[in-house]
Amino acid sequence: MNQEDEVEPTPPAGSVDDDARAVRRRSGETESSRANRGWWDRNADEYQVEHGPFLGDDRFVWCPEGLDEAEAGLLGPASGLPGRDVLEIGAGAAQCSRWLAARGARPVALDLSHRQLQHALRIGAGFPLVQADAGALPFPDGAFDLACSAYGALPFVADPVRVLREVRRVLRPGGRFVFSVTHPIRWAFPDEPGPEGLSVAASYFDRTPYVEQDETGDAVYVEHHRTIGDRVRDVVAAGFRLADLVEPEWPDWNHQEWGGWSPLRGHLIPGTAIFVCDR
Ligand SMILES: C[S@@+](CC[C@H](N)C(=O)[O-])C[C@H]1O[C@@H](n2cnc3c(N)ncnc32)[C@H](O)[C@@H]1O
Repeated sequence: MNQEDEVEPTPPAGSVDDDARAVRRRSGETESSRANRGWWDRNADEYQVEHGPFLGDDRFVWCPEGLDEAEAGLLGPASGLPGRDVLEIGAGAAQCSRWLAARGARPVALDLSHRQLQHALRIGAGFPLVQADAGALPFPDGAFDLACSAYGALPFVADPVRVLREVRRVLRPGGRFVFSVTHPIRWAFPDEPGPEGLSVAASYFDRTPYVEQDETGDAVYVEHHRTIGDRVRDVVAAGFRLADLVEPEWPDWNHQEWGGWSPLRGHLIPGTAIFVCDR
């Protein structure tokens, strides 16, 4: 845990707690999970105030670029959703599940953070909410037809193959898992929306996690970097077939900045990667 790399880190999430210090160092599964649970519990209120209006209470937005499931159909045509059991992982306030429920699906929204799920209750959830870690899904084998995750869990876990295997386990044969993450190329750039975010500042190939830690060295927030090749290999190692890898382009209608995601950068380099995985 103490192998700190003193190079100036480039925060991928762009949100450092007031008295935390950002470093690049190793962080295992237990520490990452504990740190992120605490961070999301402390920051859920601010996150929902800042991003709730863009996400919409019952829209299914995959990424800061604004790609919407209604338009993208990555889970298949909406006409195929009625009656389908869908697991949303890292659901936050469960906006995506609300959209799925309105189309006749039967969603279950899972998140590590109790406070995020309280926001799901505040907005209104007529479907189950489950607090759990994506690395140990509390469901029997083959319980779902579909699974989805919009920036939930996968960017934050030390062992993504474990999560992917868990998702595959709870999917029925022929099921599909779609997940979005920060596009790996972004890790080479400072997480700044302006021109300073356009110059390479770190090695794309450095997988050392981004860690915010308190004065005692305990992690309070962790993100894990995988290259595009790593992510493809993770998907395949978990037993999925990669059906598509979507890199949403920045649309002209979107003038909204979200941390380091901005129209300026979005028109030049990808900000999100969406993996469409078939079981
Ligand atoms: C960037 S938010 C995305 C939430 C929602 N999809 C949205 O777009 O607002 C990431 C979410 O992943 C959750 N999360 C992080 N690590 C997780 C884990 N190991 N298992 C389950 N959820 C996790 C966080 O609590 C947080 O709610």
